Amino acid sequence: MKVFVVGAGVMGSGIGQVFAMAGNQVTLYDVREDALRKAREGIAWSLNKLREKGVVKDPEETLGRISFSNSLECGGSDLVIEAVFEDLKVKGEVLREVSAKTKGVIATNTSSLPITELSTFVKRPERFLGMHFFNPPVLMKLVEVIRGEKTSDETFQFGLRVVSSLGKYPLPVRKDVFGFVVNRVLFRLFTAGCSLLALYTPEQIDYVAMNRLGMPMGLIMLLDYTGLDVNYNIAKEASRRGFEFQCPPLEERVKQGKLGAKSGEGFYNWSRGRPDIRA
Ligand code: 3HC
Repeated sequence: MKVFVVGAGVMGSGIGQVFAMAGNQVTLYDVREDALRKAREGIAWSLNKLREKGVVKDPEETLGRISFSNSLECGGSDLVIEAVFEDLKVKGEVLREVSAKTKGVIATNTSSLPITELSTFVKRPERFLGMHFFNPPVLMKLVEVIRGEKTSDETFQFGLRVVSSLGKYPLPVRKDVFGFVVNRVLFRLFTAGCSLLALYTPEQIDYVAMNRLGMPMGLIMLLDYTGLDVNYNIAKEASRRGFEFQCPPLEERVKQGKLGAKSGEGFYNWSRGRPDIRA
């Protein structure tokens, strides 16, 4: 299958890698040359890690299935996946542009915006659905497959089959509400974790989350890991829509350019990799 991924950030590059690992021909698109360069480096690093673990046989061959491009020509693709910044306007513009160029299925990797709303930007809403991967896409098994009001049966079934073909677990989401399933749960957990920041350190809160609640990564660390800018935007949109996701300390950090793991600092310092609070 020919897959075209729009946006070579953390999610887009991870999604492109997953499709290439399953034998698909992938084009990873971004307007920013530095994003494409970083994506190639990140994918090469990850494939080598996975070779050490025996998951990938030939990293070079897998990387060879990915073209890195700054042209949005997605005409011959069977599937286009939009993975740009989590903002209705930004996603809308990209979807409008892509939908004028392809007759294939279009999926959005939105983490919370309802598919029916996003479908107003595409020409053929019956060929449009949500395919929500989690960070890091290469390691996370679950993918939410979301049906909008106008998504056809055929497109929805195609989405579920595609996710299974990647060796992932597709969760069919039939209620197209803001945050779908996973993030509606996470919003509440994040709100609880953030409210404790007035009294406890991120390390203390995360130690509890990891050692008593059994989370692989603490709540505050997860905010850093998925990006404070992304979470800030989601929280603003959530509160606009009456959903509970409040984390007041996000705003100040984002304004200071502290975006979490990707910028080297958020609630934690990531300059030497993932902070180790597991002991
Ligand atoms: N590719 C290949 N290998 C990777 C990798 C990647 N992208 N990322 C990490 N690894 C490797 C590490 O290098 C490490 O290798 P090593 O064993 O050789 O040292 C190994 O995986 C294990 O990593 P860690 O030592 O960091 O430890 P963990 O066992 O905790 O695993 C994790 C990492 C899978 C990320 C785990 O911490 C986890 O599951 N965290 C929670 C992630 C999560 O909840 N994601 C969803 C977020 S919500 C979301 O995405 C929604 C969005 O819409 C906002």
